[in-house]
Amino acid sequence: HTLNTDHPFWQIIRTVPDFPKVGIDFYDITPLLRSHINAVIDELLAVLPAGLLDEVDCLGAVEARGFVFASLLAGRLGKGMILLRKPGKLPPPVANKAYALEYGKDTLEMQNNLPPERVLLVDDILATGGTLTTAYELCKSAEHTVVGALVLLDLVDLHGEFPVPVYTVLKA
Ligand code: PRP
Repeated sequence: HTLNTDHPFWQIIRTVPDFPKVGIDFYDITPLLRSHINAVIDELLAVLPAGLLDEVDCLGAVEARGFVFASLLAGRLGKGMILLRKPGKLPPPVANKAYALEYGKDTLEMQNNLPPERVLLVDDILATGGTLTTAYELCKSAEHTVVGALVLLDLVDLHGEFPVPVYTVLKA
C-alpha cells in the first residue's frame, strides 16, 4: 500500500505510545479538530469516488469520534445520520453486537426499527476493523445496504479485507 506520510495532517496528529494500554500506539487526532476541522471535512469528501454520494441515503455515525465527522459531513451534504452507539444509550428496539477492540472489548448498538437505507459508515480511525465490521454487520442485520466506509486514518496493516470499500484520507 502507498503510505501518504507526507500529508500535512501528519504534522498535527500526535502519536502517543502506550496509551491507553502498554504496546498500543494511540493516534491522537484531537489537534486536527482544533485547527483544521474544515480541511478534514473537505478531504474526507474529496476521497469519495464521483457519484458515490448519489447512492447514499444517510451516514452511519460510529460513537464517539465518528459522530464529530459524520455530523459535519451530514451538514455539508444535507443528509441525515443513523447512530451506532455504545450500549445502553439508545432506547429500544435495538440490536447489539459485541466485538474485540485493539485494547479491550466493546459493544455497539443500533436501533433496528428504521426503514432500510443505503448507508455510508463514518469513523475517525480504522484499526483492527472490529468497530467498523460490527457497525457493518449491525446495518446488514437491520436490512440496510452499506455502500462503503469513510475514515480519516486507515491503519492498513492492523486489519484484513473489509467487506465494502474503505475510503481514507491518511494511511499508516
Ligand atoms: C476508536 C476509534 C474507532 C475504533 C477503531 O474508538 O474511534 O472507533 O477505536 O478501532 P478498531 O478498528 O480496532 O475497532 P474507541 O473505542 O476508542 O472509542 P471513542 O471513539 O468513543 O473514543
